[in-house]
Amino acid sequence: MVLLNTRSEYGLISRALHWIIVLSILAQWLLAEANEDSATIYGAFDTLMLHQSIGLTVLLLVIVRLVWRFLNIAPAWPVDMKSYEIAVARVVHFAFYLLLLAIPVTGWLLSSAEDEPLRFFNWFDVPRISLGGEETLEEVHEVLFNILVALAVLHVIGAAKHWLSRRLRRRHTVAARV
Ligand code: HEM
Repeated sequence: MVLLNTRSEYGLISRALHWIIVLSILAQWLLAEANEDSATIYGAFDTLMLHQSIGLTVLLLVIVRLVWRFLNIAPAWPVDMKSYEIAVARVVHFAFYLLLLAIPVTGWLLSSAEDEPLRFFNWFDVPRISLGGEETLEEVHEVLFNILVALAVLHVIGAAKHWLSRRLRRRHTVAARV
């Protein structure tokens, strides 16, 4: 596999960034749940500090991913995609970037407004960017996360549909050759 994107596939760097971000979001959800229920097995860890630190790392990785997206060419859309499907996929991708920036920023604003410590992996203090409005921010942080989950479901359905139709097409081609 190549490092950079080509017109036919995503390169290793784009794929690695994609999956690191996906796994981090999953971890973020587990940590947020564990933080609400400190009696879980995660109780021994500082779940909030981990949630904040991984979240800020996601913010950084999304910025890197955006820069990478503009420095690189993007693979062409699959030939079997209809134009309305491409339009939906474009909107979903754009919304992913917006949400993946807005969720950590609202979390950062929320933690800044709260009187809780804000340390990056217990290494250094993160500057506060407080605007107040703690309750609204908590609500917004959660609603944005729910929208992200809904879009992720759409994205997975689209990817599965594309994967399935590619496999079927390959099988047809092999059958036609025999
Ligand atoms: C991609 C990044 C992030 C995701 C997906 C995420 C997701 C979540 C979710 C699902 C919740 C639980 C909402 C609820 O049910 O009330 C939550 C809560 C919270 N998040 Fe995040 N978050 C992210 C980044 C951040 C960052 C960067 C910070 C702070 C620097 C942060 C601070 C908080 C705080 C303070 C809470 C409330 C915890 C509590 O009081 O139980 N989050 N987050």
